[in-house]
Amino acid sequence: MKISKLLVVGISMLVGMAANAKNMISIHTDNVQLVLGVKSNGRIYQAYLGERLSEGTPLSLLFMPQANQTWPMPAGNEVYPVMGTEDYFEPALQLTHNNGNPTSVLKYVSHTQTARNGITETIVKLRDEKYPISVNLHYLAYTKEDVICQWAEISHGEAKPISLGRYASGMLYFEEPTYYLTEFSGDWAREMQMSQTQLNFGRKTIDTRLGTRAAMLAFPFFEVGLGSPVSENHGKVLMGTIGWTGNFRFTFEVDHDNQLRVLAGINPDASTYMLERGKTFKTPEFIFTLSTQGTGQGSRNFQRWALNHRLYMAQEDRMTLLNNWENTYFDFDEQKLNNLFGQAKNLGVDLFLLDDGWFGNRYPRNNDKAGLGDWQANRAKLPGGIPALVKGANEQGVDFGIWIEPEMVNPESELARKKPHWILRLPDREPYLFRHQLVLDLTNPEVQDFVFGVIDGLMKENPNIKFMKWDCNSPITNIFSPHLKARQGNLYVDYVRGLYAVLNRVQAKYPKLYMMLCSGGGGRCDFEALKYFTEFWCSDNTDPVERIYIQWAFSHFMPAKALCSHVTDWNKKASVKFRLDVDFSCKLGFDLDLKHLSADDLTYCQAAIKEYNRLKPVIFSPNLYRLVSPYETNHCALMRVNDHQTHALLFAYDLHPRYGETIINTHLQGLDPTATYRVREICLMPGHESRLPFHNQTFTGDYLHKVGLKVLGGNQLDSRIIELVKE
Ligand code: DGJ
Repeated sequence: MKISKLLVVGISMLVGMAANAKNMISIHTDNVQLVLGVKSNGRIYQAYLGERLSEGTPLSLLFMPQANQTWPMPAGNEVYPVMGTEDYFEPALQLTHNNGNPTSVLKYVSHTQTARNGITETIVKLRDEKYPISVNLHYLAYTKEDVICQWAEISHGEAKPISLGRYASGMLYFEEPTYYLTEFSGDWAREMQMSQTQLNFGRKTIDTRLGTRAAMLAFPFFEVGLGSPVSENHGKVLMGTIGWTGNFRFTFEVDHDNQLRVLAGINPDASTYMLERGKTFKTPEFIFTLSTQGTGQGSRNFQRWALNHRLYMAQEDRMTLLNNWENTYFDFDEQKLNNLFGQAKNLGVDLFLLDDGWFGNRYPRNNDKAGLGDWQANRAKLPGGIPALVKGANEQGVDFGIWIEPEMVNPESELARKKPHWILRLPDREPYLFRHQLVLDLTNPEVQDFVFGVIDGLMKENPNIKFMKWDCNSPITNIFSPHLKARQGNLYVDYVRGLYAVLNRVQAKYPKLYMMLCSGGGGRCDFEALKYFTEFWCSDNTDPVERIYIQWAFSHFMPAKALCSHVTDWNKKASVKFRLDVDFSCKLGFDLDLKHLSADDLTYCQAAIKEYNRLKPVIFSPNLYRLVSPYETNHCALMRVNDHQTHALLFAYDLHPRYGETIINTHLQGLDPTATYRVREICLMPGHESRLPFHNQTFTGDYLHKVGLKVLGGNQLDSRIIELVKE
């Protein structure tokens, strides 16, 4: 008796809360649709997320109660659930009012939708009827790219600051039989290692607490296979990331009904934020795509979106370069660098990039123990300063770029002595160092001025600097800001905002400056930073074998144009050709002593750079097809195809084939099945001819897809680059 009464209550509650069509909001791209609906309690819920529904589908049907929805548990699927309401799972928002009340009930007020340039912006306004709290939910739907970005803006009119304990960017709900999470984790020189696990009841969190070098251990990307494990070409998959160059958190929670909740935002741990009256707390963007054809399609969505809407100067060319870090480390002078400018020119790259070690006088930067913070050229190494270097490089026919790490300071520096209050440091505690350095307090506007001044000073003195590599080798240590005083909970967030304030100034004043984002390898690699940076350094690990795995993983989200990949001396067992062929698929550079190359290797590199320049439009295309996974086989193969399907490149790498392993055909993808393509192996060592039987033959796209070609081989560390041109 009791149970049936409960069922009736449950059903009538759900029916009573059904929405009418006027209260449904559709946020959609060409292929993805998110529907929100306001129920009769005035609150807003996710009604649908999935493949785009046919035009004319009555959206109010989405709130029809289902037969099994009998238990009067949480009203469920609230778009921005708040701690303290009847939802018992991880909330998006938690705040405490001035009177100590820890709850808010957010009701729908209004919404707007505007479309421009292939983007539809939806803003949903919510407010608490009893307290002066407003939350605006923003959604940008990128029509062609099938990408949606969402964030929240929180503001209030209470007399004193309110405390924000949680402030996610967004929450999504899924109802599928099974869920499989792919995460990207690692460490220095082991970036973006992919692993997959099934999500069962309970909560799985991926987060980082490193502050600045945020992604050193956990990378800000995830994939969820919806109903089946994540795979390359089949199945439903959610792919997501967060645009935040600091602590982030993704929460995946499977509830009692096997419903999955995905929550993305800043990691609120140790970051209870005091928000002043009248100020708006804007969360970072949660950026996601849904694909019904596996991660391959999802990656192409992300890459196209990044190139059309996000990466700085995405439409501009990228420069090949010679870097001196692995060649000289800190040991160089003007003479040595002048020789390297000549080597760069002879090699055929566009730019010479001077790395760490060029600054500091009283505390010279001759190793990583001293000098950070003192951004004056070292007079002993570089008597003519940076101007003489820029002039020298330009006279020899290459552009000049320079390394900086402006957020950091060595205790052994003039800056640390003069401005101790600019440094993050815990009161009454011995500071602990990471790579012998400390972190400047970017929450402090004076420090922001100083950091901006490092770039501004270099550019004012040397307007011909074309490129900067902005490094960040330490997480936030000694987490206390002298500037924030009693508001230490704001530190992690305000640090990142301080960084963006500086980057905005740099971009406004030097819009043509190419900038590489670097963080002791790939410790910073998010889409908010890439609004300012033209590319990023994926890893200090440049062993081509390791790079195949790292670049494979990054390619799930990032376009080739953004992935800096340099030929170095790591893994001498691999030929120079193999090393270069791995870098050829990304943004190519060099970082080794060219004098050690054999004549043939040098000739190979020179010719390959010319080919690279010719083929950049294909290499930088978003149409990536990952054909053979290094995670599943002893090989790797991937393809890039231009938008018109007239030109393609195939990269084939043999890592460690087994003795006598049967080599099977690789099926190509992404071509026009009706077109005929001439297939040629390019980038051959001097004096070598292609041994591929199909070299210089023609095939239809259909044949190449269905029958394929033997592009892989049985030798260790062997590689081929194959060009396909429509006849
Ligand atoms: C870490 C970077 O990842 C390296 O490429 C190099 O720039 C060093 N820092 C310099 O200290």
